[in-house]
Amino acid sequence: MQVNTLILGAGAAGLHCAAHCGPGTLVLDHAKAAGEKIRISGGGRCNFTNTGTTAANFISSNPHFAKSALARYTQWDFIDLVNRHGIPWHEKTLGQLFCDTSAKDIIAMLLAEMAENAQLWLNTSIGTIRRGDTGFHVATKRQGGVQTITARNLVVATGGKSIPKMGATGLAYQIAEQFGLNVTSTRAGLVPFTFSDEKFKPLAGVATPARVGTQDGTAFDEALLFTHRGLSGPAVLQASSYWREGEEITITLSPDFDLAAALRGHRQTDGRKALSTVLGQYLPARLVDFLAADLELAGNVADASDARIDALVEALSRWRLKPAGTEGYRTAEVTLGGVDTNGLSSKTMEAKSVPGLYFIGEAVDVTGWLGGYNFQWAWSSAHAAGTAI
Ligand code: FDA
Repeated sequence: MQVNTLILGAGAAGLHCAAHCGPGTLVLDHAKAAGEKIRISGGGRCNFTNTGTTAANFISSNPHFAKSALARYTQWDFIDLVNRHGIPWHEKTLGQLFCDTSAKDIIAMLLAEMAENAQLWLNTSIGTIRRGDTGFHVATKRQGGVQTITARNLVVATGGKSIPKMGATGLAYQIAEQFGLNVTSTRAGLVPFTFSDEKFKPLAGVATPARVGTQDGTAFDEALLFTHRGLSGPAVLQASSYWREGEEITITLSPDFDLAAALRGHRQTDGRKALSTVLGQYLPARLVDFLAADLELAGNVADASDARIDALVEALSRWRLKPAGTEGYRTAEVTLGGVDTNGLSSKTMEAKSVPGLYFIGEAVDVTGWLGGYNFQWAWSSAHAAGTAI
């Protein structure tokens, strides 16, 4: 069978690309259904973009690479598409846009957009790939039948390694290496931290606003969640993408609040209250209990000197912890690293050394923050390749 464009992977990037490649496009995926990660994303409501998207919200060995594609297909372009399909949405927080009803609306929209020019084959496994005079020859197996598909253009949109249970494989990296492209080292991103001694078990379920910082100076102010195995919540997931094994993280509790001034005020108003009780008005009580011994919280507020209050607030704003590791690809929302952008055109996503071969979406060494940025990269990079083909 001969097609003009063969897209490997029916996820966010592959489906959106298929809508722009023109006639003679075929999309293959080994999964039973298209867009499985879209379906489960954003708690089933898909945080499909972020109104504040800029290249600064992405991590890559080349921080400039994403600029062109993001500028040529912006969050506003995708919002227009969602509006044209009449999909209701809302802004949750920090520019994050979610479907009102279901992430399935986004999948249905992508399938409708590609229907005119593209076919979709699910439950299809991908075998060897060769490049010949007429294009790329890709061996496939579907419903027990083996078939080689020849394509002038081959778009690799098979994502990263995150959540193997959902069908993630390292196929994009293998294809890149087969064609002589470099792959930067990959690791789990947007992932909870684990601690070997399960020290936070008593705090499991406690959430509090915090600033979580990593050793490179990056810090995120969002919610922090204690779990049986360690730390999670948006602030932690964001920080995990900047964390390297063996490094410490720094937690600032109550980052946007002048706790020292508040505690001094309490000396006048309710000085006979225990310091831990007063602190419990600003931090979760279970967290205060957990920290009480380390912070020597015994005594009344009235007895706390300025120096004592300053030392206490300093300790709460520089809580240094060394994670044992992360939950890894099992639960990571994304894979950091990937197909080296040095080998790709930033305008088209085409491999510079292999005409007709394109890499898009999470497979590329461009990883977004939490908050709809990763889908926006999928849409923008897919559009760059699709319109170039
Ligand atoms: P994606 O992984 O979506 O698609 C790859 C496709 O290739 C899959 O269909 C897979 O089956 C197929 N494939 C892989 N290997 C194959 C092989 N060997 N043979 C055949 N097919 C193969 N982002 C965001 O912006 N907002 C959000 O709300 C969320 N929420 C979220 C929740 C959870 C739980 C996860 C795990 C991730 C998110 N993300 C997110 C991240 C987002 O889902 C991710 O960045 C995009 O899905 C990446 O799109 P791609 O199309 O590149 O890969």
